[in-house]
Order: sequence, then structure tokens, then C-alpha cells
Amino acid sequence: VSLKPYNSFGLPAVAQALVRIRSDADVRRVVDDPVLGRAPKFVLGGGSNIVLTRDMPQTVLKVEVPGRRLVEARPDAFIVEVGAGENWHDVVTWTLEQGWPGLENLALIPGTVGAAPVQNIGAYGLELQDRFESLDAVDLRTGLGFTLGAQRCEFGYRDSVFKRSLAGRAVITRVRLRLPRPWRPLLGYLDLARRQAEAGIAEPDARRIADWVVAIRRQKLPDPALIGNAGSFFKNPMVTPEQCRDIIGRDPEIVHYPLPDGQVKLAAGWMIDACGWKGKAVGQAAVYEKQALVLVNRGGAIGSEVMTLARAIQESVYGRFGIRLEPEPVVL
Ligand code: EPU
Repeated sequence: VSLKPYNSFGLPAVAQALVRIRSDADVRRVVDDPVLGRAPKFVLGGGSNIVLTRDMPQTVLKVEVPGRRLVEARPDAFIVEVGAGENWHDVVTWTLEQGWPGLENLALIPGTVGAAPVQNIGAYGLELQDRFESLDAVDLRTGLGFTLGAQRCEFGYRDSVFKRSLAGRAVITRVRLRLPRPWRPLLGYLDLARRQAEAGIAEPDARRIADWVVAIRRQKLPDPALIGNAGSFFKNPMVTPEQCRDIIGRDPEIVHYPLPDGQVKLAAGWMIDACGWKGKAVGQAAVYEKQALVLVNRGGAIGSEVMTLARAIQESVYGRFGIRLEPEPVVL
């Protein structure tokens, strides 16, 4: 099975087999199957956060579980349950239309609902964990369903238990989101604050904020339907205040954000940009002209070109700043 249509980078790779999962029972059927049950498996959502560098020996389970419903209207929150196969942005739009605000800062993030907790998607000052209630998953060895709350998901910056001990061991089938009441706008992120000042709107509603987020993303990030990519290619590295002071000593301009825990987050995009990478390419893999943190497929790129480019960027950033950049998407 060709995986090219199933990854937003548009990289070529072939999988042993691809099984569509529309329910918990579909997962159990795979687990109980004499052949598939034993085969190594890879869980695929929208394919918008993976880099395929070679053919896959695994059976790919493509999660397509549908469903959207309000499970509870509590005084302090709306609890909404969504099938893991639903498109994330469509769900954001739907909740706003229903009058349940809270996901607006996460508008236009590519991918599926089931993938959102895996990497704890985040943008414009909000992370999935801030709107997460619980999720249902099915164990790939036993076929048994289980439910996890936020604590057991071990959310971190672009990280969760599903990237570590549960990687490849469970299929997320449903996610419950918690949309707090009363709603409060989150407008602290610089790009958003700028939009607000330009528009001169003191109290924007959630739909307006979603429109701003969509406009900002369209300006900075390539549309995967037009130019293959997987969003940010590297994580923003965390350093100690001492390390940061050291770097500022040499590069006073470096964009950095002090975090509540005392660490400092550095803007990887700024560092890559400062090393002169915008627009540079290896074969058909290139650094996006408008956002150096994003690598793109100019058409016909292969995974090894992407990784050669990525390693060259890592080396040059390490050479200049002494910082090792880590890939953000899952590299296969
Ligand atoms: N910058 C540059 N040159 C560049 C790119 C960025 O100077 O080429 C500077 C910007 O001017 C800004 C700073 O670096 O001062 C940060 O840039 P930006 O606001 O675009 O955000 P980011 O840190 O590059 C992160 C997330 C994005 C998310 C945005 C908005 C990560 C790895 N990336 O990007 O998430 O949309 O913030 O919250 O944390 C993703 O994960 O795939 C993703 C797109």
C-alpha cells in the first residue's frame, strides 16, 4: 500500500498492509486476527506529523473513528466527545458554531483528533492539555479498552505517554475535551495581540479569534494541501537561564521566552533563520521561505533528502549556538 496519500509531507513509502479502524471492535478484530494480531503495527492519524524515510514493515492502522457529541453541560465546562478519526480543525469550527468556545487558538492545526493528545498539539498560548478531559483507547496486545485522564497521559511540550511507553501499543479511539465556562479569551501571544491591536477590538469573541489564528497561520505556514510539510520540523529547545545568558552575550537578538518553571524556551525558527537557512534546499526538500522552522517538499522529495537537510541544519545551529535541535514530527 502506498503511504504517499496518507502523509502531509507527500513522501513516498510503502506499507505491508493498511487497515481502517472505525470502532473499538475494529481494533479487537485486528488483535484477534491470527496473522495481524502478531504483526508489528503503526497507528496513523492524519499523517500530518510524520516523516517517512523508508518502506514500513508494519501494518498501518489508519484511525477513522467518527463521532461528535456533547456529553455534559456542567456549570464549569462543556464536555465534548469526539471520534479519533475526526478532522481537528473541523471539530474546532463545529464547537464554535455550537456556542462552545475554547479551542479557537488551536484552529487550522492539521491532523486528526486522535493525534492531538499524542503530541499535545499547541499554538498561540494554548495546548491540548489545557482543554483535555480524558480519552478512550484500545490496547494492541490484549484488545481491551481503557480510559486515561490527563495525569496518566503525561503531557509535556509536544509530548505525551503515547510518544514514549505507550508508543505503538494502543489506539486512541475517542477524546473528550473540556471547554471551560465562563469562556475567557487568550490573546497573550504576540502575533494575536498584534492582530487585536490592528482590528481595534477590545473584546473579540471566540470566532473572531479563530479567524485571526487562521489568518496568522495562512501567512506563516504552508498549506499541506499545496506544499507538502509536517508543520514545525524541530521543537523549540529549553535551556537554563545561564545557558540563555551565554547565548544572548553572543547573539543579543535571539528570541527567547522565560517559562514559569525557570527554564527559557528559545525560538528554533529564529536560530535557523539566523544561520541563513531560509529557502535553502537538498534535492526537493527545502526550508520554507516564510518560516525557517518548517521544512517543505517542493515536489517529489524523498525522506532521505528531508533528513539530510535536517541534519545539516542541526549541525549549523549546534556550531553557532551550541544547541542541539530535536525533530518535532515522528521520524520513521
Ligand atoms: N522567527 C524568525 N524567523 C523564522 C521563524 C521564526 O525570526 O524563520 C521568529 C519569529 O519572528 C518569532 C519567533 O521566532 O519571534 C517564534 O516564531 P513563531 O511565532 O512563528 O512560532 P514558532 O516558535 O516558530 C511555535 C510552534 C508552532 C505554533 C506557533 C504558534 C513549535 C515547535 N512550534 O512555532 O507549532 O503554531 O509556535 O504558537 O513549538 C507545529 O508544532 O507544527 C507548529 C506549527
